[in-house]
Amino acid sequence: MIYPEKISINIEDLEETPSTNSYLAELCRSGKVKEFHTITTDKQTAGRGQRGNSWESEAGKNLTFSTVLYPTALEAKNQFYLSMAIATAIICTLNEYTHEFSIKWPNDIYWKDKKIGGILIENELEGGYISQSIVGIGINVNQKVFHSSAPNPISLTQITGTVINRKKLLEKMLNDFIKAYIFMENKLDEASEVITKIYQRFLYRREGLYPYRDAQGKFMAEIHEVEPSGHLVLKDEGGNLRRYAFKEVEFILP
Ligand code: BTN
Repeated sequence: MIYPEKISINIEDLEETPSTNSYLAELCRSGKVKEFHTITTDKQTAGRGQRGNSWESEAGKNLTFSTVLYPTALEAKNQFYLSMAIATAIICTLNEYTHEFSIKWPNDIYWKDKKIGGILIENELEGGYISQSIVGIGINVNQKVFHSSAPNPISLTQITGTVINRKKLLEKMLNDFIKAYIFMENKLDEASEVITKIYQRFLYRREGLYPYRDAQGKFMAEIHEVEPSGHLVLKDEGGNLRRYAFKEVEFILP
C-alpha cells in the first residue's frame, strides 16, 4: 500500500518493557507523540489483556506492539468502528498465511476454536470524541508452549507448521491496520459500512446455534447481529432477541 505522503510510521523497538500499551501511554503523557508511533518489544514482562487479565508472551517469539492514533472525528459512541477496523485488518493479514481465522466478539482473534491474538484499545475522550487511542495488539506467532490459565491459546507456527518471520508479519499487519484506519478517517460513513460488513463476515460462530451463558444461565442461541455500538444481539432457541454489552455474556467453548 502507498501511504499518503505525510504519513510515516516510527517504530521504537524496546528490548524489554512491562507493557507496550503502558509505555506508549506514558510517552504520550510526557509530550507530543506523532500519530502512528509504534512501540514493539521482544520481551513484554507484564502484558495486559482485556477485563484486567494478563497477556502471556514468551520472549522473542511473538508480536506485542502498540500504536497511537489521534482520530479527527470519531465520536465516542462510534468507537466500536475502530475496534472492528483493527480486528478485520488483523484477519486480512493472517489470511495471507492460512485460513479459518475469525473474530470472536468483540475483538478476540481466533483460529477455529482457539485464540491466536487479542486487542487492547485504550481511548481518551474529549467532548464526546476520541482524542487519543492506544491500540495494543498481541499475536501468538512462534510460541509453542503456553503456561497461563488462558483456556485455548494457539500460535501461527502451530497452525502452519512453519517458523514465521515476525518482522514481515508486523509490517503487513501495521500496513493493513493503518490502511483501514485512514479509510475511516477519510470517509467514515462509507468505511463504517464496509468495515461492519467485513466484520460480520469474519465473525466466529457467524451462523448456527451454539451454547452461551449470561447472568440467568446457559442457553443456545445464534448470532443475530453486532450493533454499531458494539452490542451483541443473540437470538435464542425460542426466537427471543437478547442484547449484550461486553462482559455480559460468555461464549461456551467446546
Ligand atoms: C486480550 O485480552 O485479548 C487483549 C490482549 C492484548 C495484548 C497486547 S500485547 C501488546 C499490548 N500491550 C499490552 O500490555 N497489551 C497489548
